[in-house]
Amino acid sequence: MTRIAIDPGRATGRLDRKVFGGFVEHLGRCIYGGLYEEGSPLSDDRGFRKDVLGLLRELRLGVLRWPGGNFVSNYHWADGIGPKDDRPRRPELAWGGEESNRFGTDEYLAYCAELGTEPYICLNMGTGTLEEALAWVEYCNSAGRTAWADRRRANGRDEPWRVTYWGLGNEMYGDWQVGAFTAEEYVREASRWARAIRMLDPRAKLVSCGMNGWNEWDRVVIDGMAGLVDYHSLHIYTGSDDYWTNVLQPHQAERAIHYTQALIERAAYRRKIATPPRIAYDEWNVWYRQMTVDLEERYTFADALAVGTYLNIFVRNCDWVRMANLAQMVNAIAPIVTSPETAAVQPIWYPILLHAQAALDQAVDVHVSGPVVEPELPAGASRWPFRVGDLGPFALIDAAATVGVNAHKIAITLVNRGDAEELTEVRLRDRDFDGPARIRTVTAAGAGEARTLPDVEAARLEEGSEDTKNGVVAVRLPPRSFTVIEAAMA
Ligand code: AHR
Ligand code: AHR
Repeated sequence: MTRIAIDPGRATGRLDRKVFGGFVEHLGRCIYGGLYEEGSPLSDDRGFRKDVLGLLRELRLGVLRWPGGNFVSNYHWADGIGPKDDRPRRPELAWGGEESNRFGTDEYLAYCAELGTEPYICLNMGTGTLEEALAWVEYCNSAGRTAWADRRRANGRDEPWRVTYWGLGNEMYGDWQVGAFTAEEYVREASRWARAIRMLDPRAKLVSCGMNGWNEWDRVVIDGMAGLVDYHSLHIYTGSDDYWTNVLQPHQAERAIHYTQALIERAAYRRKIATPPRIAYDEWNVWYRQMTVDLEERYTFADALAVGTYLNIFVRNCDWVRMANLAQMVNAIAPIVTSPETAAVQPIWYPILLHAQAALDQAVDVHVSGPVVEPELPAGASRWPFRVGDLGPFALIDAAATVGVNAHKIAITLVNRGDAEELTEVRLRDRDFDGPARIRTVTAAGAGEARTLPDVEAARLEEGSEDTKNGVVAVRLPPRSFTVIEAAMA
């Protein structure tokens, strides 16, 4: 049995909706043939696939990062504006294809507006110049009568698009990145860009390019950039065919958050920075099977448990993690997959959906006591070189909770990683529940359960309710399941 004690009066951070963010890259079938398909009967007159748009809308994304990813480091944004048939086709260096440029800045920003989500543009620091970056900001945001703002008007958009979030390059540390830098080179270049962009648009919020949080790159970049940016980015991908490695590896994000927080606090103290940056986990997911071509990962329910755990971790650490972008949203390592005829969701869709639907304004203190696991994690079982064993033992049940600002509602997200049903009692400190709790649970689908696309696994979402009494609710968490409890509080 697991006992979970929650103190709804003890907020640990305000939850920024940007933590439920997404990322779409010009990669494989993410944009073309994914969210954008000209001439398809499933698309609107702008080429936006209506089925995909409908699914993405359900996830209530707080922010959507674009256009890469590795793709951006050879992307010249001005190729992607104006009449579509006049746009040049270019070689695509990151993934080795060709870019038609038929989906560009105005299409992306119209897409974000349609979704009701904040745009977040990553700048090209590979082959791009500062001049080009400034022109991009001017094109999107200037209300003046300047040349790039007039180009935007000529392309049909009078009002500035008001793009707030701008990334200073993508993974600029890696030899897979076009135009990679050393950390020192990056700081030198990115500081020049940050200062100039702020001169043009003082409202811009900037993101420095981080690595994984425990690397020397992050220390040097945070030291050099903390006074100039609003966020430091981190990326993490995990995954393994070994079940326990797969479901426990997301805890590496917890280590990364703690290290990054310490590096930022150190820089802020030494350099007297009044408002130090927070963390943007602007790429995260399970990804280990399809590494090179199209990245069309087929997800299992174990992956869904990992994804649910990642989101619990971001919620628990939301005082520091102010943005997180699932990489990615459609076809390429994505919860949504398409064929020319239909769109379907993979198992990882469900924890994302339920988190986004249930989460309230503030994370609160959660204490879990119950069975723990400390499995042997076979060395080399993961594609990624993260050891998480030293972070254990791990509670079998991973938990996070949020409350509404007026504290009349609570939402609790629980991942049962165990192979058996776990009776779990949730007890509120100094508060009562008001009425029964709504319980939604997702488990792997049974053999032969209906699939929309033959190679996409289904999952089973069931809804019920539980009586509450004296601030206690007890639920039986099925083996390997993700559960959300939502209730009113007296
Ligand atoms: O999301 C896939 C790729 O992973 C991105 O292009 C890159 O930034 C990361 O390495
Ligand atoms: O996270 C870095 C990723 O690792 C690169 O994008 C990919 O090419 C490599 O496998």
